[in-house]
Amino acid sequence: MTEANLYTLYKGVYVPNGIHTPDSLKYCEEFTFRPDDVVIATYPKSGTTWMQEILPLILSEGDPASVETVPNWDRVPWLEETRASILNLEERPSPRMLTTHLHYNMMPPSFFQVKPKVIYVMRNPKDVFTSSFHYYNIASFLVKPGPKREFLQKFLDGKVIFGSWFDHVKGWLSAEEKQHIMYISYEEMIKDLYGSVSRISQFLGKHLDAGVIEKIADRCLFKNMKNNPMSNYSVVPQEFMDQTKSQFLRKGVAGDWKNLLTPEEAEQFDAVFKEKMKDVKFRFAWD
Ligand code: A3P
Repeated sequence: MTEANLYTLYKGVYVPNGIHTPDSLKYCEEFTFRPDDVVIATYPKSGTTWMQEILPLILSEGDPASVETVPNWDRVPWLEETRASILNLEERPSPRMLTTHLHYNMMPPSFFQVKPKVIYVMRNPKDVFTSSFHYYNIASFLVKPGPKREFLQKFLDGKVIFGSWFDHVKGWLSAEEKQHIMYISYEEMIKDLYGSVSRISQFLGKHLDAGVIEKIADRCLFKNMKNNPMSNYSVVPQEFMDQTKSQFLRKGVAGDWKNLLTPEEAEQFDAVFKEKMKDVKFRFAWD
C-alpha cells in the first residue's frame, strides 16, 4: 500500500484517509471552541498519549476514573479524526479536552477567535523519527516505512503523516498570541515529571496539593501507563495495530535515536535541522 491508497492530501499534508474522512475534516473545520477548552497539540510520536493521561488526571484533581475506563482516543479525542464527529462533543461539560495533530495554520477559524488553552508538546525530532519508524511498521493505516534511509528522507521532506516536523514546530512556536499556549517538551517530562505536572496544573489554574501531583506523576510513569489498557492501545484489533511487532508504548526514553541512526545519518539530520530551524529563537530542551 502506498501514499496514494492510504493518505489524503489535506491542506498540503498527508493524513491517513481511514481515520480522517472528508466528513470528519469538515466537522473539524466547523468546530466551535469554548474559551475553557484545553487542546493538546502535537506532531505525531511526540508524547500525545502521555499528555492524554496527564491532562485528565490534572483536571479531575487526581481522580483516575476516566483514565481507567475510557480509551485515550475518546477521553481526549482528536478533533480531526472520525471519532470526534460521533462523540457528541457539543454535549460534553466544560472544560472539554481535545487533541490535535494539525499545524497551527490549519486550525479551524473558531480556534483563532476563542483562543482556548493549548498544551503544545514537542520532542527531539530524531526520537520522533525513531518512534515513527517503528510505529509506521505496526499500523495498517500507515504506509510501511521501508528501508530506514528511504524513510529518513521522507521524514526530512515532510512526506509523512501531518507533514514536516520542522513546519509543525515552527508554526506552533510562531503563534501570534502565546499567552494561551504552553510549550513543553517530552524531554522535560522525562527529566522531571513531577515538575512538569506541576507546571501544567499552574497553567490550567488548578492548584493541586503536592500529594496529588505526586500521585498523578506516578500514574503517568511509562511503566504504569504501559499496563493501562485504556492507554496502551491493547484494545485496538491486531489488524489495525500489530503490537506483536513493536508496542505502542515502546521504549519511552529520550535519545533512542542513537540506537537507530548511524553517525552519518544523524549528521544529515542535524544539517537539515540547522537549516530549517535557523530563524527559530526557542531553546529546545534536547539541545
Ligand atoms: P517511543 O516509541 O520512543 O517509545 P504519541 O503518543 O505522540 O504517538 O507518542 C508515542 C511515544 O511516546 C512513544 O515513544 C511512547 O512510548 C512514548 N510514551 C507514551 N507514554 C509515555 C510515558 N508515560 N513516558 C514516556 N514515554 C511515553
